[in-house]
Parts: sequence; structure tokens; C-alpha cells
Amino acid sequence: MKRLFIKTYGCQMNVYDSDRMTDVLAPLGYVPTDTAESADMVILNTCHIREKAAEKVFSELGRLRQHKSRAEEQEGRSMLIAVAGCVAQAEGDEITRRAPWVDMVVGPQTYHRLPELVGQADPAARKRVVDTDFPAEVKFDFLPEEHASRGPAAFLSVQEGCDKFCSFCVVPYTRGAEYSRPASSVLEEARRLVASGTVELTLLGQNVNAYHGVMDSGETMSLGRLIRELAEIDGLERIRYTTSHPLDMDEELITAHRDVPQLMPYLHLPVQSGSNRILTAMNRRHDADTYFRIIDRLREVKPDLALSGDFIVGFPGETDRDFADTLKLIDRVGYASAYSFKYSQRPGTPAATEDVQVDEQVKSDRLSALQQLLDAQQLAFNKSAEGQEMDILIERAGGREGQMTGRSPFMQSVYLNGDAADIGKIRRMKIIEGRQNSLLAEAIS
Ligand code: 5AD
Ligand code: SF4
Repeated sequence: MKRLFIKTYGCQMNVYDSDRMTDVLAPLGYVPTDTAESADMVILNTCHIREKAAEKVFSELGRLRQHKSRAEEQEGRSMLIAVAGCVAQAEGDEITRRAPWVDMVVGPQTYHRLPELVGQADPAARKRVVDTDFPAEVKFDFLPEEHASRGPAAFLSVQEGCDKFCSFCVVPYTRGAEYSRPASSVLEEARRLVASGTVELTLLGQNVNAYHGVMDSGETMSLGRLIRELAEIDGLERIRYTTSHPLDMDEELITAHRDVPQLMPYLHLPVQSGSNRILTAMNRRHDADTYFRIIDRLREVKPDLALSGDFIVGFPGETDRDFADTLKLIDRVGYASAYSFKYSQRPGTPAATEDVQVDEQVKSDRLSALQQLLDAQQLAFNKSAEGQEMDILIERAGGREGQMTGRSPFMQSVYLNGDAADIGKIRRMKIIEGRQNSLLAEAIS
């Protein structure tokens, strides 16, 4: 038995990929472990979306270098170090130059080749391997079907890459062109996950609602249709999907929110900015009114739909007025939760070379004003749950003895009393308190 430690950064797609790397390495005798120190192989599954995320990798590699030399010099055993994910894809050469103790660099589209790479890497001979191809073969066809249960709420990758080319974003370069898995392969994996105890599936894709997987008939299936097919699987109680682009919210997907009871009433639909000038500069290909129309239509078919979004402040050229438009958009939409970021210049993206970069202090001030508004909306949303009854999926032990945590239909974290026997159960409970980041629930008496 060999011990494998994977540290995952960034988005949910990376969480899914890390699980699949575990599956790929299992036949070689690798078993997951909780610490890097004792591991025989350490994989950093990295994120390149913002500068901060990418820099974390290099500081972690510094720490790993010490573990590796201790293992080699004091314990006489080897430790393989691999960098995977989007930093590996974008900065493979930089990694081997700055951190020569790294044995393997593997991109998001080639991790099915890890077993081969492990065979090729030779730490004793300081032989490093780098594989950041965009191969002709599709990794999903080479990933093992067998895997351990992924728990009651699992991710399922259905689409990868992006053809939208928003001017700030590295994804089209790190993850490559848009690709949809064939519908039958997605449905099969979903059935296997449900058979192994999963009751909630989150369909993943960088641009998931652009999904257009081929069917056995040769025609393509949209995400709305895929959701309807998944809903036929016995035992699959909840379906979610993330992340979506407004322009791909077609009518079939919108009406799935009305027609499919398993589709949860929560949607992450990033808009990034409320200013039409900035939306154009970002190459988002829609304006604020188009976004409002989509939200209005969604609320028409599903009045209690909770919305979440992503926002960037301080995009090159953003003025106080543009920023005020973003605040106005947030006011009008009303978000249950949201993620917001200071614009980060990413090498190779069009926006990075704009010469009208916004001052760091201005970015910080705008971010805190934006977050104040979003926090207030989130607290109001959580407070509005007080006194209501909701179905809670119980997922894992909470921090305290006798406490468990779960999720509401609206993606809120919920604390409740219970024990391990409740994991995977959906219970109707009463919400007794709404807090900033969570709800408290109790059994209905
Ligand atoms: N700077 C700041 N935020 C970014 N995002 C993507 N690229 C950048 C960048 N260069 C944010 C967007 C996206 C989320 C995943 O990350 O809001 O929706
Ligand atoms: Fe990046 Fe999303 Fe825009 Fe694609 S749609 S370029 S992943 S922000």
C-alpha cells in the first residue's frame, strides 16, 4: 500500500478531478491519506483563476520540498510530488524551473495518464515528466468505472472548457475548448453514483448550461433535457448545476426549473458587472437588461428561485459610475448568496494589457462596499427562512458532539441535532434561526 495525499484548490471541478485522480491511482495501490508528511505521493490540484490562487501553489511547494527531503534523507523513502490542474497547464515550465523537486506536471485533460507518468518519473534520477497536452483522446473514456462512494452529495462533471472568452478569464486557455460528455456516459455515471449512496448530484461545467452532449441517435441533448432524463433515476432526490452563462439559459432549461421537482430552487448565474460599458469590455456579449429579462423569466416559472452570482470589481476602466450600476443591479435582483472578487490581471488574457488598470485601493474600497450590500441581502434571505419548514439533506458531522450539518434546497448550510445514522437522509425540519452564513434547524414537534 502507498499513501496518496491530494490538496485541492479552486473550483468544484477540481474537487471532482481530485476524486478521479484517486480512482486512477487506486489500481497502483495508492490509498488516500490525510497528511502530506507521511504520503508517498502528493498531488497539488491547482487553480489559476486569480493571481492569489496561483501564488499559493508556489508557497505550498516550498513546504513540500522540506517534507520530501526529510522523507528521503531521514526516513530513506521517496516522495513523489505532482502538480496538476490549471497552474500546471498554464505554467508547467515555470513550475519545473522554480521548483525542480517537482516530479510530475499534469494538466486537467491528461490526468488519466497519471499511472504512466508515475512509471516514467524517477525521483532518484531526478527525472521529471510534464504532460500538459490537449490530447485527441478524451480522459473520461479512460477513467475507471469503479470508485468508492462519494457521499450523499456528489459532483458529476458533464462539460468542460469554455468558448466564451470573457476578456479577464484564463479558463478558455487552461481548460481548453468547450467539450460536452456524451449523454449516455453522464447518465451511466449518475446511475453508478446513486447506486453507491448519492442522493444529490451537482452537474459541473465551466459553462455547464452550454452542455450539448451527443446521444446514441447522433443528435445532441441540452442541459434542460439532460436534467429531465436524470430525474428519471430512482433514488436521485436532488439535482443542481453550476456554473452557467446568462446567454445559455435557454427555455428548455428555464422550464426545467418549473417541471422537474428534483431540480433545486437555487441558481448560480454570474453577471460580473451591472454596467453595460464594462460588460462590453469584458466581452460578456449581453447587457444588464438581457440579464434582468432572464431573471424575470426564471422567477415567472419558479417564484421562490434563490439566486447567486459572481462579481468582479475594478475591471480595467471601471469608473465610480460603472460601479454604481453594479450596486444597482444587485439591488434590483436580490441575491441569496454571491462571490465577489477584485479584478486580477491574468497573463495571456486580453484585459491584462489594458492600460487603464484600476488602483488597488479603489478596488478594495469597491469590494467592501459591494460585499456589504451582498452580505445584507444574504442575511435578509437567511432570516426570511425563520419559522419555515424545509427539507434538509443531512451530509456530515458538525463541529460539536451530537451536531450534524446539511443543506437546504436553497444551498444554505444548516446545523441540526442528529447522529451519523442520519447521513444521506432528507428530513423535513423547522428553521429556528437564520444567521449570516447558516441556518439552525430542529425536528418538527
Ligand atoms: N479576476 C478576478 N476575478 C476573476 N474571475 C475570473 N477571472 C477573474 C480575474 N481575472 C471570477 C469571475 C468568475 C469566477 C469563477 O472568478 O467572477 O465568474
Ligand atoms: Fe471564464 Fe466563465 Fe467567461 Fe468562460 S464564461 S471565459 S469560464 S468567466
